[in-house]
Parts: sequence; C-alpha cells; structure tokens
Amino acid sequence: MGTIRTTVREEPSLRPTPREASLRRYLMCPPTHFEVTYSINPWMDPTKPVDLPLALAQWEDLRDRYRSLGHSVELLDPQPGLPDMVFAANGATVVDGRVLGARFAHPERTDEAAAHRDWFRRNGYADLWEPEHVNEGEGDFAVTASWILAGRGFRSSPLSHDEAQEYFGRPVIGLELVDPRYYHLDTALCVLDDARDEIMYYPGAFSPGSRAVLARLFPDALLATERDAAALGLNAVSDGLHVLLPQAAVGLLEPLRDRGFDPVGMDLSELLKGGGSVKCCTQELRAAA
Ligand code: ARG
Repeated sequence: MGTIRTTVREEPSLRPTPREASLRRYLMCPPTHFEVTYSINPWMDPTKPVDLPLALAQWEDLRDRYRSLGHSVELLDPQPGLPDMVFAANGATVVDGRVLGARFAHPERTDEAAAHRDWFRRNGYADLWEPEHVNEGEGDFAVTASWILAGRGFRSSPLSHDEAQEYFGRPVIGLELVDPRYYHLDTALCVLDDARDEIMYYPGAFSPGSRAVLARLFPDALLATERDAAALGLNAVSDGLHVLLPQAAVGLLEPLRDRGFDPVGMDLSELLKGGGSVKCCTQELRAAA
C-alpha cells in the first residue's frame, strides 16, 4: 500500500526579482541628416514630412537619459546622404570587445558600414571582422547570456548567422521573421536581462517554428500584445533595471514593473517615421569580460 504524502507548498513569491542596472557603453549617431526620402520598410512614407528639429530634440533626450543613468554614449559623425545613420544599431555587433561589421541589404544604406568600421578602427578596436554575408548588426542580432539570437527573413542573410557563430564562438539561434512591419529582430524582441536570458517579444512576428524555439528557450518571457508591438514597444533598451522604450507602448509598463523593471517611456515619434525607435538608435559596445 502506498502512503499518501501531502506536502505543504509555499505560496509562490509575489515579490518581483530584484533588479540591478549595469553600466553600459553605447554608440549613437545624431539625426543631423535624417529624412525619409526612400522606403525600405512599411513605416517609411516619403510623402510624410519629418520635423528635423523635433527629431534632434527627441534623440538628444534619449542620449541625455542614458547619460543621466550613468551609461557612456560615444558618438558617430553623421554623414550627409545617409539619412538612416541615426539607426546606429545596424552598423555593427560588438560582443566581448570584438566587432562584427555590417553589410546592408539595401544600397541606400551600404556606405554606413564603412563609417562604423572607421569609427571602430579609430577607437582602438583591433579585432574587426568584415562580413561576407548580409547582416544589419544589432538590428538582427540580440545578445543574451547563453546565446546570440539572430533574425532573418527580411534583411540579414541566414548565412550571416553561421558567420556570427564562427566569429564570436557563441551559439547563434536563427529566428524567422514573417511580418514586414517587424523587419528586424529588434522590432519584435528585446533582451531585458542579459545576465539571465530574459526577453520580451511579440510572437506574431515569428514563423511557427521560431515561435516554438522561443517558447522552449524562454518559457518565462514577457509576451507583448500586437498593440504594443505596433507601437514599436519592443524596440527597447534595458540595462538590467531601466527599460527605455517608446512611450506609446503603454501596455508593457505594468508587466515590466511586475517583473521588477523600471520602464522609462521615450518619445521618438519623428524617428518612427523611419521605422525605428530606442533600440535602433543605440548600439551596445560590449566589452571583453
Ligand atoms: N529606415 C531604417 C531601415 O529600414 C530603419 C532601421 C531601424 N533600425 C533597427 N535597428 N531596427 O533600415
């Protein structure tokens, strides 16, 4: 006869995980020459005017916010004729102090890769890889504690995933994007805690197989609604505590607070006309451990 054992289960703690910010180094580029004269994603409508002084002020707010949180912000020189340069996340991916350069999918942005490369050369980054395959930097690469998540489907080539894995020596998980509004991984997924493999994402942006992979690797992920995703709410930057995100993504505020994060809404409405927001404007320079 078996015995019936009852165990007293402790109530799951309602207290959120204690969070800690870690100081970051970011690379940004002022939107001095920002305009929408071509359309390479569904957000870009060249017939809609851009308010350049407002774009600059909004971008400066973001830069100042990082600095006030203690992060350092390096600046890339904006170049005339490269209106998307403000989206500095796309120009390279830096992990362990090593730089994987970008190779853009569209000719309008091709020359940005060299501007980034020159910046890294001038700033003492000796380990710099010029890629063979198309990759749009941190637009499609997201670094968690255990993996590099890599988007494909619209911009970065699937072959760039192997190239990144070989170069960084970290496992790269390929994810298929299927909705043109979420043409870069960083429009659909954000790393919230890169020490703990914690992310938020919008499942609707991914193929069924990639959704299953994400559910398997990140069972506790914060899932964004279509509405918050459409406000580009996942185009966010976290330092482990503060999560800077587009302010219109109001539905993310409470779930982020419930998890112990401190969400900070930013207004980047002018840059949204180019199809980017907080994360697109921010490349993280990850130092060697
Ligand atoms: N207009 C730019 C493009 O379509 C926006 C890039 C946004 N950057 C990003 N990391 N998602 O390429």
